Amino acid sequence: MKTRREFLQSTLAGTAVLCFSRFPSPAASSADAKIEILLEETQGTISPNIYGHFTEHLGGVIYDGIWVGPNSKVANIAGLRRDLVEHMKKIKAPVIRYPGGCFADSYDWRDGVGPTDKRPRRTNFWFFSDQSPAKHKYESNEFGTSEFARFCKEIGAQPYLAANLRSLPAEQFYRWVEYCNSPAGSTTLADERAKAGSPEPYNVRYWGVGNESWGCGGNFTAQEYAVEFRRYTAWVPGYGKPVNFIASGPNGDDVTWTKGFLEEVLRKGKEQLNSIYGMGLHHYAWNLSRGKTNDWDKGKGDALQFDVTDWYELLREGQRLEPMIESHWQAMGEFDKDRHVKLVVDEWGPWYRPGSEATPGDLLEQTPTQRDAVFSGMTLDILNRHASQVAMGNCAQLINCLNSLYLAHEDRFVITPVGHVFDLYSGHQGAEAVRAVFSAPEVQYDRDGKPATFFGLNGSASLRGKDLLLTVVNPDAKDARETTISLAGGAAASASAGVLAASDIHARNTFANREAVVPHSAEVAVRNGTITHLFPPASVTAMAIHLA
Ligand code: AHR
Repeated sequence: MKTRREFLQSTLAGTAVLCFSRFPSPAASSADAKIEILLEETQGTISPNIYGHFTEHLGGVIYDGIWVGPNSKVANIAGLRRDLVEHMKKIKAPVIRYPGGCFADSYDWRDGVGPTDKRPRRTNFWFFSDQSPAKHKYESNEFGTSEFARFCKEIGAQPYLAANLRSLPAEQFYRWVEYCNSPAGSTTLADERAKAGSPEPYNVRYWGVGNESWGCGGNFTAQEYAVEFRRYTAWVPGYGKPVNFIASGPNGDDVTWTKGFLEEVLRKGKEQLNSIYGMGLHHYAWNLSRGKTNDWDKGKGDALQFDVTDWYELLREGQRLEPMIESHWQAMGEFDKDRHVKLVVDEWGPWYRPGSEATPGDLLEQTPTQRDAVFSGMTLDILNRHASQVAMGNCAQLINCLNSLYLAHEDRFVITPVGHVFDLYSGHQGAEAVRAVFSAPEVQYDRDGKPATFFGLNGSASLRGKDLLLTVVNPDAKDARETTISLAGGAAASASAGVLAASDIHARNTFANREAVVPHSAEVAVRNGTITHLFPPASVTAMAIHLA
């Protein structure tokens, strides 16, 4: 049986079919659903960084995805794919994690700086796939720190760099910080940065100290990693600006890692907590075997060919993030009474078996459908509901990879249903989360002959002055949900909604059909301060409510 850890280990070593069904046209369920928004029960400010992204030197993410090169015929801004930059600006992308992932712990940042034609070619961490083109297997280093910093600057996003703890000494971590953050003219590395076009420092604030250090990032125990974390973060120069270190956190629900790490770090005293801004948490929804196996290869489902049970099973796997956040948060509280350390969910998304790549040969690329849109809305709602515990989220990964917002190849570019969800939800960034109570009959479905249930309606709400944003997912694959929305502590004056729905749960956008799934606007009925609304089946809705 293979686990994700072993999959990544073997990488290190080098090495259902199914019925497509169309829905009946949306029919209102006879069941009543209710959403009550408690305007005075605030849950903390939603960090804009919850809407963050993740980019790795993996398959088609960097080369062909982000970077087309300055001499390309593809529309670009000094080598960066223009369409991508423009849409990321539109969704107000706040932060981007780079250069991995597992790649990060194999990467020497010095390979990616200096004149492009002098940069060395290296074997990429993800070199093992026979199908991948050479440019993905052998790293040209054409895209490195300064290109990434420029990408972030064009978008207005903050960079989040993941440092190599497995195969570079701590000194190289300090030097990378120096290259990025030392003041203009102050150091040899600042001069090198100036030659790459930026005399002014990049002021990189977020630094990951290794990645998945329990697996591809060094195969450490929590205690061993804690010792390394202390060493790597001790006396890193700050150059007068905040530097926030993010520790490599647990694999999914492994609370023993969280506790073991914090216990060992604190062996040197309580003040050690000051060097931890956040603990990373990764959760991939991959096991669609309906409880039959935990094998990493056998348990995965197909991105495009799935039945209604697979639809709910994926959502159920994704929903596990909520208790995971709560159990890690509780464990962290045993060591961090003042709640200094936050959670950073820096990899999340569904992970299917290969086969749905828009560009054959792009490793780990999959084509998102309406299922992934609902999954993504549900996940962003979970993060919003934990605004006081979660400082950042990074969807894995931005383009040409797992739960991508975009697919691109040469001059073709398409926004996936996931990309549209980020657009619909962008208004939550920086707003005050308020409690919303959802009551709806559970969805019933058949899990291989046994009855199973899933929530009927869920979402999150946030307030900015008199503007309330309510986001809702209706996971029911068949039925629309007629819902009453009431506000405690206020009244609605007017409302409108953006809706992402599709009559086929498998609907997706492709290079040939780029607008199969796009948001449409819907009217919202407001009467005496209360709203009634029909949420279509299998949909994601963002409702903007203006308060009286
Ligand atoms: O996102 C793909 C891989 O998944 C990342 O490189 C790694 O951190 C995780 O296991």
